[in-house]
Amino acid sequence: MSEFYRDVKAGLLAPLKSLPSKYFYDKIGDHLFQRLMHSDEYYLSRCELSILKTQSGDMSKIVAGHFRELDLVELGAGDASKSVYLIRSLQEVGLDFNYYPIDISQNVINHLHKKFAETIPSLKIHGLNGDYLKMLGEQRSISRKPLLILFLGSNVGNMNRPQALDFCRQVNQFMQKGDLFLIGVDLKKNPHTILGAYNDQEGLTKAFNLNLLTRINMELGANFNIDKYMHFPLYDPVSGECRSYLVSTIDQIVSVGKKSEQFQVHFKAYEPIHMEVSKKYDISELNALAKDSGFKSTKHFFDNKKYFVDSLWQK
Ligand SMILES: C[S@@+](CC[C@H](N)C(=O)[O-])C[C@H]1O[C@@H](n2cnc3c(N)ncnc32)[C@H](O)[C@@H]1O
Repeated sequence: MSEFYRDVKAGLLAPLKSLPSKYFYDKIGDHLFQRLMHSDEYYLSRCELSILKTQSGDMSKIVAGHFRELDLVELGAGDASKSVYLIRSLQEVGLDFNYYPIDISQNVINHLHKKFAETIPSLKIHGLNGDYLKMLGEQRSISRKPLLILFLGSNVGNMNRPQALDFCRQVNQFMQKGDLFLIGVDLKKNPHTILGAYNDQEGLTKAFNLNLLTRINMELGANFNIDKYMHFPLYDPVSGECRSYLVSTIDQIVSVGKKSEQFQVHFKAYEPIHMEVSKKYDISELNALAKDSGFKSTKHFFDNKKYFVDSLWQK
């Protein structure tokens, strides 16, 4: 029984149905996310890209002030289209480092090896395919040099506050005193701007969410009719949580799993599946998260609209 099957079964048979967002990223999901990053409404990637393009030099000088050599670990690296600016600039300030991208998608890891072999052949890269913390543990068994960990793209936003605290504390446990953590966080802003990023005109977020049902059909032998689910995002400006749901438009029964593993899921008309949370922070909440998880927040790098921040923390 695969972990994917177990997680899907637990999520769909719970009283409030949900699916873990880490399973969005198969080959089609990766591709849809790349397209979403370039959509007009998805400001997050544009803002963080502008931070990395213009401030990687300053970041690298700070890092070089602490270390001569290090392990650069990136949690949930994706296509590394933003971190590449920091990688180049760490090389320019003369730091000696190996790059360890970690990603749940094997497709992403294969792509990164190929891309960097062509674009920065001098980069020593060792991709690790799997879950963030498990792979961080594996990286620490390969090398124990000082660490700079990147966690960009508002990936931490896919956790609610207690989960984020628990996660950052666990990351902290892998680090030595003085090690650095650069965390990319989406900030609270006009609620319409936020909601728009999860409800783009082209329907990419909708397709990205529905693709997980297709993946379950393909990999777990389910029979979801994706035409009978609608995408419904909502944003709560108080908690800062943007939540995406797929809502069943009719009363229906879906079977999941092959032969002896098969189970049935009953959907009432308009019953939702919770797909993803994207939590937005303000700076005081973010500083509190750093402090409560054992870090000192040393510098915030903002884009010019202050929509997004890459925050540098030190253990
Ligand atoms: C929102 S994308 C961001 C990618 C990149 N950090 C960026 O800023 O462009 C999230 C990435 O994290 C990966 N990911 C999601 N959950 C993960 C998990 N639990 N463990 C490892 N990687 C994960 C996905 O495969 C995807 O490539």
